[in-house]
Amino acid sequence: MPAGRHILSIDQGTTSTRAILFDRDGRPGVTAQVELPQIYPQSGWVEHDAERIRSDSLQVARDVVEQAGVETIEAIGITNQRETTLLWDRETGEPLHNAIVWQDRRTAAHCERIVQEGAADIIAARTGLVVDAYFSASKLAWLLDNVAGARDLAEAGKLAFGTVDSYLLWHLTGGRVHATDASNAARTMLYNIHDNDWDDELLGLFRIPRAVLGTVCDCSGELGVTDSRIFGRAIPITGMAGDQQAASFGQALFEPGMVKSTYGTGCFMLLNTGDRVVTSSNRLLSTIAWRIGGRTTYALEGSIFVAGAAVQWVRDGLRAIGSAHETEALAAGIDDTGGAYLVPAFTGLGAPYWDPDARGALVGLSRATGVAEIARAALESVAYQSRDLMEAMAADMRAEGAAAPNALRVDGGLVANDWAMQFLADILDLPIERPVVTETTALGAAYLAGLATGFYASQATIAEIWQRQRRFEPQMPAARRNALCAGWRRAVAQTRHRG
Ligand code: G3P
Repeated sequence: MPAGRHILSIDQGTTSTRAILFDRDGRPGVTAQVELPQIYPQSGWVEHDAERIRSDSLQVARDVVEQAGVETIEAIGITNQRETTLLWDRETGEPLHNAIVWQDRRTAAHCERIVQEGAADIIAARTGLVVDAYFSASKLAWLLDNVAGARDLAEAGKLAFGTVDSYLLWHLTGGRVHATDASNAARTMLYNIHDNDWDDELLGLFRIPRAVLGTVCDCSGELGVTDSRIFGRAIPITGMAGDQQAASFGQALFEPGMVKSTYGTGCFMLLNTGDRVVTSSNRLLSTIAWRIGGRTTYALEGSIFVAGAAVQWVRDGLRAIGSAHETEALAAGIDDTGGAYLVPAFTGLGAPYWDPDARGALVGLSRATGVAEIARAALESVAYQSRDLMEAMAADMRAEGAAAPNALRVDGGLVANDWAMQFLADILDLPIERPVVTETTALGAAYLAGLATGFYASQATIAEIWQRQRRFEPQMPAARRNALCAGWRRAVAQTRHRG
């Protein structure tokens, strides 16, 4: 049994659910993890079993608490895949439908109609978001319109809507708390990020009854206490943030201008813009990074839907490799892809293109193209997409009169791949900083929870804990970088459905 006290972080992600303990130095300890099956009812649709999200989260948390001893747990932090939409019965806690996952495109036509009706500007101005099926609003509207009886029940105040954070908080507190935090609320497309409140006009636009919404809390503070039957003792829940915002916190991205990328299923690049909402001219999102003590910190975000999932596709879809780790040696073993590019637009293209109907492509194939070239093209696609985001971000920052970022902090499963990190540095022409602890999403939720209880003294203490493991310096000659990037742009153009 580990000595000393810990924060328990529950990280409910797109493909797995994890619980990790963190100590006072931000070091991870006991961990439990289970994979979460993906459900694909139709092309472009992605769902999760809501009951499984609940039971897996409780199970991994219990596993860790049992190993650590319940008395050692100071508090719990929750972090989660964002935007994924759930609707449940307030009486029984029963979900009315599978969770509709952030990647799901079933509401693309609805979003298109909203744009045609001329509402994109008001939505952008209030929420900081680009109208897209990615966010929760159209998914919630779909549930209300397609689950028999849901709309009537919702209007009668019998149903609760939530993203995964809210759903877990509800269940961990035994149904006593229906709340979300500002970082998750910011991803619903129903939340005014300037006023920090649900927006009645947007609720009207998407026909969402206010009665389904919960309270919006700070990301660090008293959110609720667990039902004592779950762990044998009531434990305070004092931290909550969407996974990308939590990762930013875990990367100690506390100064305006600092930027990180998390390479999980997708890739999400967030740049701290301080207490200012920076409006992008390059189709990035403005979002809430976190709200602490009533003070909101904002971020610019670039969201790519497929990053690590491209490598997964080479492994599981093509069955070309046995494990993701093999890509590193395969990529390093050849000089280039021979002109092959993989554009992994499997669920459309996110920022800065926002084209839900684009689909993936493998282009530039020759007789020399083999598994190594395709595996390398998958890794390279992560770097090219990151460059698209970084260029947009740098342009937005220059327009603000601010400096472009001078380094990128990275985390997520893919960053263990040294070859991919060097290629990223080369394509971005920017140093890449990999921290010692790459579990930054779970760590960020733990920091938020521990800040509220005094377990971590301050953000300054957290910034001191952050340690770099390795820095990758750009080495590629500009001419080669430019030629490769031009090839990428041509490949992307071939996948585009919208110009
Ligand atoms: O916005 C979606 C994002 O929160 C999902 O993150 O790490 O589960 O791919 P991840």
